[in-house]
Amino acid sequence: MAQPKFTGKVEWPVTIELNKGLEGAITCESTIGYVDGQKGWLVYRGYNIFDLAKHSNFEETAYLLIYGKLPTKKELDEFCSRLVSYRNIPRAVIDALKLLPKDSHPMGALEVGVSALGACDEEAEPTVKKMFSGEPDQISEGIKASYKMGEKLTAQMATIAGAWARIRGGKEPVDPDSSLNHTANFLYMMTGEKPDETLEKVMDVSLILHADHGMNNSTFTCMVVASTLSDLYSSITAGIASLKGPLHGGANERALADVLSIKDEAGAVEFVKDSIAKKKKLMGFGHRVYKAYDPRAKVLGEYAQEITEKKGVGHLYKIANTIEKEVIKAYGEKGIFPNVDFYSGTIYYALGIDVPMFTPIFAVSRVAGWVARVLEYLPQNRIFRPRAVYVGPLEADYVPIDKR
Ligand code: ACO
Repeated sequence: MAQPKFTGKVEWPVTIELNKGLEGAITCESTIGYVDGQKGWLVYRGYNIFDLAKHSNFEETAYLLIYGKLPTKKELDEFCSRLVSYRNIPRAVIDALKLLPKDSHPMGALEVGVSALGACDEEAEPTVKKMFSGEPDQISEGIKASYKMGEKLTAQMATIAGAWARIRGGKEPVDPDSSLNHTANFLYMMTGEKPDETLEKVMDVSLILHADHGMNNSTFTCMVVASTLSDLYSSITAGIASLKGPLHGGANERALADVLSIKDEAGAVEFVKDSIAKKKKLMGFGHRVYKAYDPRAKVLGEYAQEITEKKGVGHLYKIANTIEKEVIKAYGEKGIFPNVDFYSGTIYYALGIDVPMFTPIFAVSRVAGWVARVLEYLPQNRIFRPRAVYVGPLEADYVPIDKR
């Protein structure tokens, strides 16, 4: 059959404005969280992040993000009990993790673990069918089942990360301890030791601060996958893959590596000068949205000072703080300030946490925001489908392989 010849030039039905990296693109309406990059504000469901860091805990913050309100005592107790009851993961997931090379990146292991969780959850596929059925009753049941999966994921990501922290070190995973809260149990599963009050508090604050952050790359990735009506496990696995990247959640490891590579404050000044001269990006600085000081870095900076001094590595804070001052001196006018990844690495290091586990800790927290955003979007779902501006040829003649 004769095919039509494509001739002429590419024409677009609408005026095209190409913003690299989808800058300024709007995905949906949301009541989950708000980032004002000019003022340096971060709000979860109307509550400012400084108040949450001071007064809340991870479970309460996760509830707030997912269910849209601060829980009553009864609601929080029930939510915490459900999270505890979901902590154990299927044996097959542990076995899958044990098959991986021990030097696999922990974020890769987390992807495998969450994917395996999905394969083991008998409700995952029936939920996809319900969501796809087009019948309001079935869709509403599918959404209800997705909330349950969201709670399971919030609990179980910590168990997978904890198990991998042990397996990569040649140790057996530690069973969850139902007497501990989410953060203490997570630390216990990673290290095999019950944390002291300081460690638990700092980690809990860090989990609160990392739990949601607008339409960031990993959240958007989760939503893109969920918008095809794929299951929540697949969506969260994709979010983990996105968060792994050094321009996103992977920056904390690199920011710490910079701090550790420097001897003293004079070295920090030299380091910044040299990076600027070589036009190297400074890890843990800059942000697509914040053009003012990231409030999360403000909270973590204060903790970094306290914790490094307490743990006898106060020089690390001094080095980091000198880097910060020098970068702000050079780039502050351009809106480049420390982001959440700058001080978190120094804190985790001072607390004795293995460096490769830094980004998984981020994921163990961010899963609450991912789940909340996906669940908010599902009832108003429309598949995400942007376009690329085609700038290639239209009229090329097909040439048989022996004539090329
Ligand atoms: N060091 C030096 N210069 C920087 C930095 C940095 N860390 N970040 C941005 N800039 C400069 C850019 O070179 C660019 O300069 P130009 O206008 O002269 O070309 C300008 O600031 C704008 O930066 P973009 O790269 O366009 O910002 P974008 O929104 O694309 O990227 C990003 C944001 C990826 C976070 C970037 O700032 C960066 O690479 N930072 C370092 C990695 C990092 O810390 N990532 C963690 C971010 S927080 C998170 O994801 C949890």
